[in-house]
Amino acid sequence: MALRKFFVGGNWKMNGNKESLGELISTLNTASLHDETEVVCAAPSIYLDFARSNLDPRISVAAQNCYKVAKGAFTGEISPAMIRDCGADWVILGHSERRHVFGESDELIGQKVAHALENDLGVIACIGEKLEEREAGTTEEVVYAQTQVIAENVKDWGNVVLAYEPVWAIGTGKTATPEQAQEVHEKLRAWLRANVSDDVADSVRIIYGGSVTGANCRELASQGDVDGFLVGGASLKPEFVDIINARA
Ligand code: PGA
Repeated sequence: MALRKFFVGGNWKMNGNKESLGELISTLNTASLHDETEVVCAAPSIYLDFARSNLDPRISVAAQNCYKVAKGAFTGEISPAMIRDCGADWVILGHSERRHVFGESDELIGQKVAHALENDLGVIACIGEKLEEREAGTTEEVVYAQTQVIAENVKDWGNVVLAYEPVWAIGTGKTATPEQAQEVHEKLRAWLRANVSDDVADSVRIIYGGSVTGANCRELASQGDVDGFLVGGASLKPEFVDIINARA
């Protein structure tokens, strides 16, 4: 466990403006943040430059999505090269809102993962089952299939964080219990051991997302295979600091 640095990402989604994000950034810049936690804030693409210019350098910046090629006639899209040009180091790919609101396929997500990694961006790769899949008992099948497509597109796992985000827990206030999160994380690590390597299974951070709050983060963080969080709603509030410090 000590091998894996605790990782906390804030996913601002399509929220905020320069005024409110500026206030959040000042709160984060002046907060006491546990040194042993890697912190990344995912800003809307139009605010990547703003976030990078204003956030303290100890906090990294991520984009929330990108396209699968470097440039061209793809109106409305952004490339990993542009994200890097704005000083951001990470991108979230395969988020459930991209999968289920915008209809992104596993195949497209895989292509994006490959291109982002080739361009030296770290990738927060998201997977997770829907409520009906959990109720039908197919959680493992679903998350293994999603992970498989990601794995086929990764050469070096050093720049990948895997985010397990059950769709039924995202933005709903229904957090997975620490036992439910641990169970899936442990199985995902075993999947990595069987299908990739021992080294990757031991070193890849598997983070949990879905209604993480200042109140529930410590118990979730105490689970052996929970290596951090991807936080939506609570990342826009001062309690994000408590989540960053969940293992402090
Ligand atoms: P939530 O979002 O914390 O608001 O549930 C998590 C996410 O979508 O990454």
